[in-house]
Amino acid sequence: MCFAIKEMVVRGAPSIGVAAAFGLAAHAVRLAQNNPPMELMKTSLQAACLQLQATRPTAVNLRWATDKLWQSLFGDEASMVDARSAAAMAVRLAETMLDDHIAVNKRLSDFGAELIKDNDSILTHCNAGPLAACGWGTALGVIRSATMRGLNPHVYVDETRPRNQGSRLTVWELHQDRIPYTLICDSMSGHVMAAGKVQVVITGADRIALNGDTANKIGTYNLAIVAQFHQVPFYIAAPLSTVDGRILSGKEIPIEERNPQEITDFGTEKMAMTGAHAYNPAFDVTPFRLIAGIITEYGVLRAPYTVSIKEALEKAKLG
Ligand code: MRU
Repeated sequence: MCFAIKEMVVRGAPSIGVAAAFGLAAHAVRLAQNNPPMELMKTSLQAACLQLQATRPTAVNLRWATDKLWQSLFGDEASMVDARSAAAMAVRLAETMLDDHIAVNKRLSDFGAELIKDNDSILTHCNAGPLAACGWGTALGVIRSATMRGLNPHVYVDETRPRNQGSRLTVWELHQDRIPYTLICDSMSGHVMAAGKVQVVITGADRIALNGDTANKIGTYNLAIVAQFHQVPFYIAAPLSTVDGRILSGKEIPIEERNPQEITDFGTEKMAMTGAHAYNPAFDVTPFRLIAGIITEYGVLRAPYTVSIKEALEKAKLG
C-alpha cells in the first residue's frame, strides 16, 4: 500500500486516506495469523501508521484515517483483548470508513449543488471525482449532484500539469457521466474567464488549516487569483476530515516535492532537453481571502473561517 500511494496508483486525498486504512487492516490480518501478544500488534501497527503517513506529506487524510483506526484499536477507550479480534475489527473499521466517505461526499455535494445555476460553466483543476474520493467525489461530486438535480452544468477541465490528472482522469469521469466538458491547458483559465465563459470555480483540497488556507494541487493558487480578478467565485469542496485541526494557517502545511522528471519527461517522451533543471512542488496553498466558501458535509462554510471551521468541527466532533 505504501508503494501504491507513493507512486500514485491510488491518489487523491480522501482515497489515499481510506486506502491507507485498508493497508493497516491488511497488516493487522497478516500479523494476527500467528496470534501475537497485543503489545506486539500495537507497536507493529504504530510503525505501519508512520510508514503510511510518510508516503505523501501534504494530504492530511492519510494521518486522519490511520490515526483514527489505530486509536479505535489501541486508544484509551479501546477494549481489544486479542490479536485476531483486533485484526477483524481493523477490517470492519476500514470498511466503515469507506462507506462513511461516500455518504459524506454525497452530503457535501448536495450543499454544493445549491450554488450552481442552470447552464453554469464550472472550471475545475486536478481530479476531485470518484477516483480521488472513494467513489463519489468532492468538487466533481458537486457537479454530479447538480446534474442529477436536472441542472445542465458544463465543465472546463484544467489539464493539470505535470501529472495531468485533469486530462487523464477528470475528463474520463465526466465522459462516463455524460457531463459536457471542455479540456483546457492550465494557462488558459485567465483567457476563458476574461471572455465571461466561467461562472464558478470549484476545486478539491488536500489539507485545510484552521484559518481556511487550503493546500490543493499545484496551480490552484494561480487559479484563485485569476478568479478573484474576474470576480468569479472560487469554492473549495472537501470533507471535514481534510481540515487539520492542529494547524492555524497554511504556512504550516508541508508541501510535497516530487521527482523533477515528472516535468522534464512524460512517460517515455522527453519534454525538455536531457539534464534540464526543474522544480516540482506537487501542491500550493490558496490563502483564505481568495476563497468564497468551503463546501463541507456540514454546509458551505464562509469567512471568517476561524469561526465557521471551528463550529463545523465541533458539530462533527472531529476537532
Ligand atoms: O497528487 P494527487 O493526484 O493525489 O492530488 C490530489 C488531488 O487530486 C487534488 O489535489 C484534489 O483536488 C484534492 S483530492 C479530492
